[in-house]
Amino acid sequence: MYRRPLVMGNWKLNGSQQMVTKLITELRTTLSGIQNCSVAIAPPMVYLAQARDQLVGGSGNISLAAQNVDVNLKGAFTGEIAVSMLKEIGVEYVIIGHSERRTYHHENDEVIAEKFAVLKSVGLIPVLCIGESQAENEAGQTETVCKRQLDTVLETLGVKAFENAVIAYEPVWAIGTGQSATPQQAQKTHKFIRDYIAQQDAQVAEKIIIQYGGSVNANNSAELFKQPDIDGALVGGASLEADKFIDIVKAAENAQQYQ
Ligand code: 13P
Repeated sequence: MYRRPLVMGNWKLNGSQQMVTKLITELRTTLSGIQNCSVAIAPPMVYLAQARDQLVGGSGNISLAAQNVDVNLKGAFTGEIAVSMLKEIGVEYVIIGHSERRTYHHENDEVIAEKFAVLKSVGLIPVLCIGESQAENEAGQTETVCKRQLDTVLETLGVKAFENAVIAYEPVWAIGTGQSATPQQAQKTHKFIRDYIAQQDAQVAEKIIIQYGGSVNANNSAELFKQPDIDGALVGGASLEADKFIDIVKAAENAQQYQ
């Protein structure tokens, strides 16, 4: 089954207007010929409009992603951003369930499932992050945790909600630590995730993009992209420097399984 991989840069709380200009200019120049891989960037919310203006009308095929969204559609929710606003500004993908939001903003599986639902309701593509902590990994609970994090969406929205959605497997212990999961470790969990969805709908499972995230860099990406159930990457730190991000995109572009 052919799946077009997706390499997405999650800038997290980093950037400036100057950086948006510089990075996007470099990415657009270098990535204009990319054919086998979808590319997206998720700058902080305040830079989305600037990023959109720089991406529009160019030769590059780089999509825009947001790092968060509110569950409410409008009203008295100070500080929040609604799905309609993201859609209006040209966003295609929205990252939800990131471990940093689960930890620092106390988002639970129920809120994340609500976010998934509002995104689907306006045709935005959720990038649902799941993954176990170090302690859960050491206790052999990787699959239990991933299953639980998928179950709330599956139970409230049904498996069809995963049509035109993305899952990002990001083991928490690999995020920002320089210690990526090995390709074999990641493949094992990706296969588990795909098989688990296949139990409910084989076609949805075959098509769904499952990205790996956690210390992906230019050196380890090619091996990760050789794995049959790894469909691209969600990249943090290495997406802040054009050269490093471009190398990862090129590794996906050239990976045999994505041809
Ligand atoms: P790093 O690539 O910096 O480990 O971050 C991964 C991540 O959290 C992407 O969402």
